[in-house]
Amino acid sequence: MTALLSVHNLEVFYGNVRALRGIDLEVRKGEIVTLIGANGAGKTTTLRTISGLLKPKAGEVTYDGRTITGTKPHVITAMGVSHVPEGRGIFANLTVNDNLELGAYLRKDKIKQSEYDRIFTLFPVLKERIKQSAGTLSGGEQQMLAISRALMSKPQVLLLDEPSLGLAPQMVQTIFRVIKEINAEGTTILLVEQNAHMALVTAHRGYVMETGRIVLADETKALLSSDRIKKAYLGG
Ligand SMILES: Nc1ncnc2c1ncn2[C@@H]1O[C@H](COP(=O)(O)OP(=O)(O)O)[C@@H](O)[C@H]1O
Ligand SMILES: [Mg+2]
Repeated sequence: MTALLSVHNLEVFYGNVRALRGIDLEVRKGEIVTLIGANGAGKTTTLRTISGLLKPKAGEVTYDGRTITGTKPHVITAMGVSHVPEGRGIFANLTVNDNLELGAYLRKDKIKQSEYDRIFTLFPVLKERIKQSAGTLSGGEQQMLAISRALMSKPQVLLLDEPSLGLAPQMVQTIFRVIKEINAEGTTILLVEQNAHMALVTAHRGYVMETGRIVLADETKALLSSDRIKKAYLGG
């Protein structure tokens, strides 16, 4: 099957620091693919390059058969790739509803009631919070809002950067359950995580990153039973 999203030989620098050293990965339509690795490995840099926020020194990003390297972030979003950044990036002073509307600002049509209903089915608590300012939400609720806002652009591909970071175990379970539901409804997902165990039990395939390189790529089933992965990432 051909990839919906792929990166080829991606190299990204911050000044003289080479953060990505030739990354290759692909995400096929309908998949959840995870990118795991320690802090500083280059996961966020990879996502930010895919969504057009960083310009690679070399390499290529393709989406839906087209090269999108160098395309502006808002154009990439409008094309169907939506990025939920590390740290969520919601507007704390705006209400939950305003944040959701901002997620739809690139669309030509208005948000339909059925879309609100879908969000409230995925995250019932957001219905209760709809008029509150986003800054009053708990960390987990803010992550729910960030994901919901991204869904408002009707993405084909959702890029999630550390959605479980800093959340209580119960909330982590909720977030990963909803990631699976969103995928089951047809959205392709690239999931960046330091929580390797949850990421690997949730995704179909995984890539392992170390210092700017992909060092392993396989079905998550294989990665979960790999001794190397168990030792380095799963605490055993
Ligand atoms: N804005 C920046 N300026 C300089 N170096 C950066 C910047 N952001 C990230 N880096 C460096 O790039 C490397 C990859 O970082 P990052 O992509 O954030 O990793 P991860 O998301 O896997 O923790 C790290 O060595 C990090 O220190
Ligand atoms: Mg990161």
